[in-house]
Amino acid sequence: MSKLEILIPADKIAERVQELGRQINEDYKGKSVHLVCVLKGAYAFLADLARTLEVPTSMDFLAVSSYGKDTTTSGEVQLTKDLDSGLERKEVLIVEDIADTGLTLRYLYNMLKARNPASLKVAAFLVKPARRQVEVPLDYVGFEIPDRFVVGYGLDFDQKYRHLPHVAVLDGE
Ligand code: IMP
Repeated sequence: MSKLEILIPADKIAERVQELGRQINEDYKGKSVHLVCVLKGAYAFLADLARTLEVPTSMDFLAVSSYGKDTTTSGEVQLTKDLDSGLERKEVLIVEDIADTGLTLRYLYNMLKARNPASLKVAAFLVKPARRQVEVPLDYVGFEIPDRFVVGYGLDFDQKYRHLPHVAVLDGE
């Protein structure tokens, strides 16, 4: 049987997302921002973060392969859905659920950089510093968390738990 223990309650998430939004509004003052949401895990973060933005905002979505039923990365990243539009001259902000090993973000960062955006930054809702294998620039971070497998607020295990309003630690799967 699996057991869920709340790590970050919904009200703390809402508070932090507002803070990140304020910072982004400040940093992009006089410009616009093009959010690139990494499906599926970042859907909740994207939806909440975007609604805090006061600068002109557009968004697009891509998808990368996930772990499936496994809780450790294979290290291989596959693009399963590409963006609908190009990035040239856009101020691009990648919106990702979690930087674990960092391999997914590094892959995406390099791929999107090659499309010549005016600027490229990264917002990660969660980071697990203990598991980082590769360096990626993280411009906006929601929370640093310990090396535990978490679900909720977009993050899943085997496509379950994404709908939870909080972040919980999954034990015993
Ligand atoms: P990375 O490439 O190792 O940084 O892993 C990134 C991806 O793995 C994330 O976008 C998540 O989809 C998934 N992932 C990593 N850690 C967790 C976790 O604790 N819970 C759920 N998904 C995770």
